[in-house]
Amino acid sequence: MPRHFLRDDDLSPAEQSAVLDLAARMKSDRYTLRPLAGPRAVAVLFDKPSLRTRLSFDVGIAELGGHPIVVDTQVTHFGRGESLVDAARVLSRYVSAIVLRTFGDDRIAELAEGATVPVVNGLTDGFHPCQLLADLLTVREHCGGTTGRTLAYLGDAANNMAHSYLVGGATAGMHVRVAGPAGHDPDPAVVARAAEIAASTGGSVRVLRDPAEAVAGADVVATDTWTSMGQEGDGRDRITAFQPYQVNKTMLAGAAPQVVVLHCLPAHRGEEITDEVLDGIRSVVFDQAENRLHAQKALLAWLLDRHAEELAAAGE
Ligand code: CP
Ligand code: NVA
Repeated sequence: MPRHFLRDDDLSPAEQSAVLDLAARMKSDRYTLRPLAGPRAVAVLFDKPSLRTRLSFDVGIAELGGHPIVVDTQVTHFGRGESLVDAARVLSRYVSAIVLRTFGDDRIAELAEGATVPVVNGLTDGFHPCQLLADLLTVREHCGGTTGRTLAYLGDAANNMAHSYLVGGATAGMHVRVAGPAGHDPDPAVVARAAEIAASTGGSVRVLRDPAEAVAGADVVATDTWTSMGQEGDGRDRITAFQPYQVNKTMLAGAAPQVVVLHCLPAHRGEEITDEVLDGIRSVVFDQAENRLHAQKALLAWLLDRHAEELAAAGE
């Protein structure tokens, strides 16, 4: 079984820390570490739109000396019913790793089931773990570490970013608070898993209704779109429900004085975050976006190393 990265908790706290250490090295030594030289190919597949994930994997794989193959799945047989297990078996004969952005987490699980190479979640409805690695690297850079730092996430607490902050943040030893309106709470199973991890890392998790309570004294304030990809036509009035959770100057006043603001982007300016905050001095969103590149390079290098070790141990 290859090592996959489908959810944030597919890396243990020590492993997550090792990947983040490597990401910092990848950043400071950007063009010299080339573990995919050969070149080894990586397939990067998209069932949904993307700017950052697509470009950062493409550039990152090339910088590692590898060969990126970026594909919109509308041009494949995915939409015509080809089994993801079969597709994974085929791709595993060509490439050294597969990245997939898709809808349900069942789809990436199916791909992983058929793959004999590592599979990486480039965003599903449930999780966005590559984004979390970039966010944690950014928190390390701006807050001097992650352990014991408090992160408040406001807005759609039921979406992939909320789930990844809960699980990935707990793995990094953070105190994670998520706050959103009724009807948009995180999956209780994800909260329970995050709490279990937090108990072992010294972190904590809280699900709140009051945004001011979540933000009080926070070192990091994060938000995300109120309408995730695939929810555009669901007919729910999201703007009214989420308005009290907007990250604006008044909301930030309750946070720690040196608070940093995260947003995975793309932002819906004037909805979940104001221009004043996004473009203001507490915002680190463009460092965060840059860090996608370094974090994913580290993740791929780390996963492929583990995979090679496991193959060697199995005598293959
Ligand atoms: N943050 C993020 O994943 O952006 P893209 O949707 O542009 O890849
Ligand atoms: N929650 C958002 C994240 C975009 C990067 C979405 O799934 O559309």
